[in-house]
Amino acid sequence: MELRFQCLGPDHWKTEVLLAPAFQGDTLHETSPLLDRAAPWLAIAPAARDFRGKKGELLLLHGHPQQNVPRVLAVGLGKPEDFSPAVLREALAAAVRRCRALEQDSLLLPVPLLERLPGGQARLVEESAYAALLALYAFRDLKKDDPDTPRDPQWLTFAFDGDHVPDAAREAARRGERAAQAVMLARDLANTPPNMLAPADLAERAERIAQRVGLRCTILDEEALRGENMGALLAVGQGSSRPPRLVVLEHAPAGHEQDKPLVLVGKGITFDTGGICIKPAAKMHTMKCDMTGAAAVLSALVALAEEATPRRVVGLMACAENMPGGRAFRPGDVVRAASGDTVEIQNTDAEGRLVLCDALSYAQKMWTPAAVVDIATLTGACAVALGGEVAGLFCDDDDLAERLTAAAALGGEHLWRLPLWQGYEKNLKSQVADICHTGPREGGAIHAALFLKHFIRDGVRWAHLDIAGVDWADSEQALCPAGATGFGTRTLLELTRGGI
Ligand code: BES
Ligand code: MN
Ligand code: ZN
Repeated sequence: MELRFQCLGPDHWKTEVLLAPAFQGDTLHETSPLLDRAAPWLAIAPAARDFRGKKGELLLLHGHPQQNVPRVLAVGLGKPEDFSPAVLREALAAAVRRCRALEQDSLLLPVPLLERLPGGQARLVEESAYAALLALYAFRDLKKDDPDTPRDPQWLTFAFDGDHVPDAAREAARRGERAAQAVMLARDLANTPPNMLAPADLAERAERIAQRVGLRCTILDEEALRGENMGALLAVGQGSSRPPRLVVLEHAPAGHEQDKPLVLVGKGITFDTGGICIKPAAKMHTMKCDMTGAAAVLSALVALAEEATPRRVVGLMACAENMPGGRAFRPGDVVRAASGDTVEIQNTDAEGRLVLCDALSYAQKMWTPAAVVDIATLTGACAVALGGEVAGLFCDDDDLAERLTAAAALGGEHLWRLPLWQGYEKNLKSQVADICHTGPREGGAIHAALFLKHFIRDGVRWAHLDIAGVDWADSEQALCPAGATGFGTRTLLELTRGGI
């Protein structure tokens, strides 16, 4: 769906469906005199009287088919005191999906209607664009065309009443669009079946996209990883016939080449069988999503490059496939991580922290980071603790934690802080090595985070996001069909846009 902008008097608006968001308690008629001018028939449409404006309510009203505006879709926003951008996002997402079901090509959203809502015009335009585009997402690459699948609407027009389209609003819509495209890229990568996306494939996809948008991209193959002494990352990948990769992306716009970079590190396990400690078969297929951390890092960087955000940002994607096999690493093995630490392996299913610890070491060896943020589908324990709507945030730096929480909330993602509980550090002691990579089951997300913390040097600002519960939706959500959600992409994008 293409976004358009138009600036004409409402009498000249022309569209198949006009979207009319309205609060509970307002009759449509009272919502705005603009509606009367755009769709004069609305005042005498009997069905309009049935609209209550409740949250989730959608009412399609018909005028004469030859009118400029033959249909108005009234979109309920609920009570004004409960309004937030999230309410608008969900309401518009539902409205746009309804238009798709009705196979309508042209939609029009009167921006003056948004001006009446708290939040500010630009912000609400941005969220409208974001929600409308994300709501239509579907992963159809591998399916034949199905004549029963309704086609997407072709255009969403933001209609203004004045004599020109305000630059701020146009730019806001573009920002929303770029964020949505980034999230959709992350979803596409994560929904791609694991046979079609080995570590090298993910690295190549990243390289191709990086070239297109002007990101610097280097790929460390097995030999280079050996050269970097990344024994932990290599151990995870060694059971697979498809070798691991570390992808290094860099956005360094002119004038910022020498800045201390924000370094984003993503877990990129293209498939997690659990390895020798193999997972049960039920739901194992969802482990194709075990690379969503890496996908979020790539996608956020793509958006930053496209909008030329004036900030240096480095992205690392730690990619491997965790497979059982004759060459696989085993419980009881001791590997030497890039930091020089020996690590005792007790459970080959705790592979994420192993690929991450070497990437974190690399981040601190190669750069002097302004901050390091890693993002990973790391532990089932985090999903058990927090469920499917909120991700775990581990961070001892209050300022960084607050910025991340605010960045997430801005785009409708949610983080909840969990403790890097020092008392549990003793649980990672090993009898044979410098550290053991797992602790007891209880507090599993904390033990994983503490293991990562072991590789962070004193004084380095660092945060860890555990997105194990939120990266995959079992059923359709307001802005996402079942499958990969793309969680984290927008949080990382907003963190960087906001200037960390
Ligand atoms: N990728 C999984 C974590 C996961 C679980 C993500 C469910 C999404 C949904 C991770 O590699 C894993 O298997 N972790 C183990 C760690 C344990 C062996 C210490 C887990 O959580 O069971
Ligand atoms: Mn695992
Ligand atoms: Zn995993």
